[in-house]
Amino acid sequence: MSGLYIHIPFCKRKCNYCDFISFTDKADCFIASYCDALKKEMSFYSQKLQSYSFDTVFIGGGTPSVIDEKFISDILFSLKQNFNITTNAEITIEANPGTLSEEKLLSYRKTGINRLSLGVQSMDDKVLKAIGRIHNAVEAIKSFNLARKCGFDNINIDLMYALPMQTDESLLDTLNKVITLAPEHISAYSLILEERTKLFDMYEQGKIVLPNDDEAYSLHRKCIEYLTQNGYSRYEISNYAKSGRECKHNLNYWQNGEYLGLGIAAHSAIRISENLERWSNTSIFDDYIQNPQAEETHDIILHDEEIFEFVMLSLRKTEGFSLSSFKERFNESFMERYSDKLKKLIDKGWIIVSDDWLRLTDGGLDMQNEVLTELL
Ligand SMILES: C[S@@+](CC[C@H](N)C(=O)[O-])C[C@H]1O[C@@H](n2cnc3c(N)ncnc32)[C@H](O)[C@@H]1O
Ligand code: SF4
Repeated sequence: MSGLYIHIPFCKRKCNYCDFISFTDKADCFIASYCDALKKEMSFYSQKLQSYSFDTVFIGGGTPSVIDEKFISDILFSLKQNFNITTNAEITIEANPGTLSEEKLLSYRKTGINRLSLGVQSMDDKVLKAIGRIHNAVEAIKSFNLARKCGFDNINIDLMYALPMQTDESLLDTLNKVITLAPEHISAYSLILEERTKLFDMYEQGKIVLPNDDEAYSLHRKCIEYLTQNGYSRYEISNYAKSGRECKHNLNYWQNGEYLGLGIAAHSAIRISENLERWSNTSIFDDYIQNPQAEETHDIILHDEEIFEFVMLSLRKTEGFSLSSFKERFNESFMERYSDKLKKLIDKGWIIVSDDWLRLTDGGLDMQNEVLTELL
């Protein structure tokens, strides 16, 4: 299984908490040059990866829905010309309420996009304002309903918690409103206060109050409780889905699968020779336009490091990983490699081994960093 990611680094306005690479000041001519550079990058990798077939495509950002839909159909057309995309591939686009229209959504459907990921974050207008979103709750609901009307039957809603102005009641009200919409998938992320963001400065200057660790943990438990009681199963630390609607693209990341990332600052992990190689593209806009193959980093992942990454990522999934698939991939037994440390973690109630599967318990998932430090 392998996935393709395309980064669209444009947004209408920078949200107060966000440190993803995106620009708010680029005119249409820059967007067109960016799409041309993407196409050049595609043609470079298509020759290298002729034997690959991709089961998932994720057009992420930034805000892919902020640019004219003609760019998106152009990108997908080139993608299909350059790569072997499987017939039933999951093709997702990220969108921001306040940037969608019927024409855009219908155009996405026409080009084969079959999954929409809508960044709602909260259904509380006070919270949305505090984090600098461009939309309000009514617009978020309108965008969701419009997407349904245009034929999207696989929709994710992104939410965030531990946000400024967000009370317990506000979060529960958001969860309730989102469940009423009945999306197939919900992501609920705890705010990460990133340096070099407006929110970080506001926090440092004492202009906003954020929940402490215990309060954030209690909000996290509320999400788990509420969503699992309402038909969404938690399949990863922050991700919930109705049965069979897990995000295949992200599952591939958590299985430490191979992926090609196209666009500025995109990451790739491909087994080029015997070893897994991982690289990231330049994060400087002009450099990318001039040379879309310009890399910022390039590492060869050695056997032990690949094992570490596999375990770290797989244990994010609530199902954990299959011991026989570990043996098949790495040619050694996980239980033998970690036998002494595993016993301690099982005794603490953080790890469960059942039949062929090893996974973290509910408590273990909350202590993931400690588990990994002990284990690896
Ligand atoms: C990179 S954004 C792209 C989606 C789209 N631009 C939007 O904002 O609606 C993907 C998701 O990451 C999450 N996210 C971004 N910055 C975050 C942060 N600092 N802490 C936690 N989650 C964050 C948000 O839930 C967001 O919807
Ligand atoms: S719209 Fe999305 S990518 Fe753009 S600044 Fe906001 S969170 Fe970041």
